[in-house]
Amino acid sequence: MSKTILELINRTPEPAPWSEGDNIPWDDPEFSERMLVEHLSQEHDLASRRNETIDLHVEWIFSQVLDSRPARVLDLACGPGFYANRLARNGCTCVGMDFSPASIRYAKETAAAEALPCTYHHADVREGLFGEGFDLSMMIYGQFNVFPRNLGLEILKNACSAMKPGGHIVLEVQTNEQIRKSGQSPPTWHSARSGLFSGAPHLVMQESFWHEDTQSSTVRFMVIEGQSGRASTYALSNEAYTEREITDAIELAGFTHARWFPSLNGKPAAGEQDLPVIVARK
Ligand SMILES: C[S@@+](CC[C@H](N)C(=O)[O-])C[C@H]1O[C@@H](n2cnc3c(N)ncnc32)[C@H](O)[C@@H]1O
Repeated sequence: MSKTILELINRTPEPAPWSEGDNIPWDDPEFSERMLVEHLSQEHDLASRRNETIDLHVEWIFSQVLDSRPARVLDLACGPGFYANRLARNGCTCVGMDFSPASIRYAKETAAAEALPCTYHHADVREGLFGEGFDLSMMIYGQFNVFPRNLGLEILKNACSAMKPGGHIVLEVQTNEQIRKSGQSPPTWHSARSGLFSGAPHLVMQESFWHEDTQSSTVRFMVIEGQSGRASTYALSNEAYTEREITDAIELAGFTHARWFPSLNGKPAAGEQDLPVIVARK
């Protein structure tokens, strides 16, 4: 959202969750091109995990959730298609959905280069047009938490409607503690010649809020470009669920037999990037 510097100074001391925006601008074409570089980076796990970790995740999903049988897979917020393409190499037929134009372009190009049976849609998962007849639906890397609770439940219900009876959902979520900690982090700033929020030299000032009453967090990013003086703000809110609350939401959406796993490779979490996973059946 475009702002004046005076508006930044006069900002609301504490924003209500989701009141200043839904998320960082994944769907902005230029932002998405810059973010794609981060998805592809093998130096860090910020946007997607590194290849070796994704290999282990997909091996676990294929062997433990799909019993090593080819299946029809729906990957919600699929990013550049790293998971869906790998599952397709195991014989699965995959549909990926994401609203980042650069990620979807990359996913389509890489799937086409290997003639993988993957279809990628540039679409907002909040619109719920998921199709039907899937054996597995998944949302990886904590994206479920970025939706307000009512919307999160709606997405789960739509995912359930898209599944065959007996199909599975795999949801990898951020923990309550991680979201609380991020909301309680002190303010920070950095400057960059080019970065995620701008291709030009800029400053990014970041402040975080923990909303105890709603058990959610907001991170506010204030960006000022050096040459133009253009200012903009973005905000990212996250719901801090307990495991019980997520299990309840999964069951309310129509799934049963919910089971929790410490990470997407089935092993105990070894660091901040290992998130808990709930698997349930329709
Ligand atoms: C952290 S990345 C994870 C991507 C992928 N699941 C992975 O692990 O490689 C989050 C993804 O969610 C997508 N996303 C966030 N909100 C979305 C929405 N409302 N509709 C579609 N995609 C969304 C972003 O564009 C981004 O690609």
